[in-house]
Amino acid sequence: MSVRESILREMGLGPIWRLRDAPDTEVPDVEAVADAAVDVAPDTPANPPLRRLSSEMLSMARNADVAAEAPAALTSAESREPPAAAADLDWDALTQAIQACRDCSLCEQRTHAVPGIGDHQADWLIVGEGPGAEEDVQGQPFVGKAGKLLDAMLSAIGLARGENVYLTNAVKCRPPMSRPLDASELAACFPYLSRQIELIKPRLIVVLGRPAAQALLNTDIRIASARGRCFDYRGIPVVVTYHPAYLLRNPLDKAKAWEDLCFARRQMRDRSSGNGDT
Ligand code: URA
Repeated sequence: MSVRESILREMGLGPIWRLRDAPDTEVPDVEAVADAAVDVAPDTPANPPLRRLSSEMLSMARNADVAAEAPAALTSAESREPPAAAADLDWDALTQAIQACRDCSLCEQRTHAVPGIGDHQADWLIVGEGPGAEEDVQGQPFVGKAGKLLDAMLSAIGLARGENVYLTNAVKCRPPMSRPLDASELAACFPYLSRQIELIKPRLIVVLGRPAAQALLNTDIRIASARGRCFDYRGIPVVVTYHPAYLLRNPLDKAKAWEDLCFARRQMRDRSSGNGDT
């Protein structure tokens, strides 16, 4: 499988390569791609950006592994004390507290609270925004369409959910009709995320989307300007990128998300090899 093929596949654009007789070097026909993209098809039916996307991804893939920069310096967000509310809870008690929580109105319409899933000793913590409809029904994070894209994104950097990765959300209950979260809901749920981070002690946190980034870093962040920087959450490097649900609506930005994940992977590698102390 060529580099190009595997990148496109991992980012959820793979089915285009099932088109018969398409030479590897040719950009696929846009209409055919829209018809063939069955797994995590972008929401937009016509998809002209694919032409640019594939070349951008290729050039990023070339650069991703050869870049030998020092790890980015950590950017401090406003310092934030861990909230006391969930302090000292072990995993079982924390899970039960989340499932029984009535600290904000999101509890009223939830089917299930969604604490998170994965390796409790993971090096990688991925923080999304909040459960959607399918997550609410199943009680697990990222099981819907956005979750499929997230799995593809993780796989593109050699990760798989549950294997050295923990997935959770900034809020643990679905906002009704998946409306935007308000600040008080993010704040009410923050003690749970904070305690999860204390228990997991991840080596790197990837935050998906602006609300989650704001909740964790306690500062007003725009993803477009925060990309490519390493923030600091109590000594843990934090990389922000676009939320997969956003990427489904804006497939052109998948290339940027891929770049961000390569950046995150480099940070992890460089910090593991001791270069991060500078
Ligand atoms: N979006 C999120 O932010 N989290 C989920 O668990 C699912 C969709």
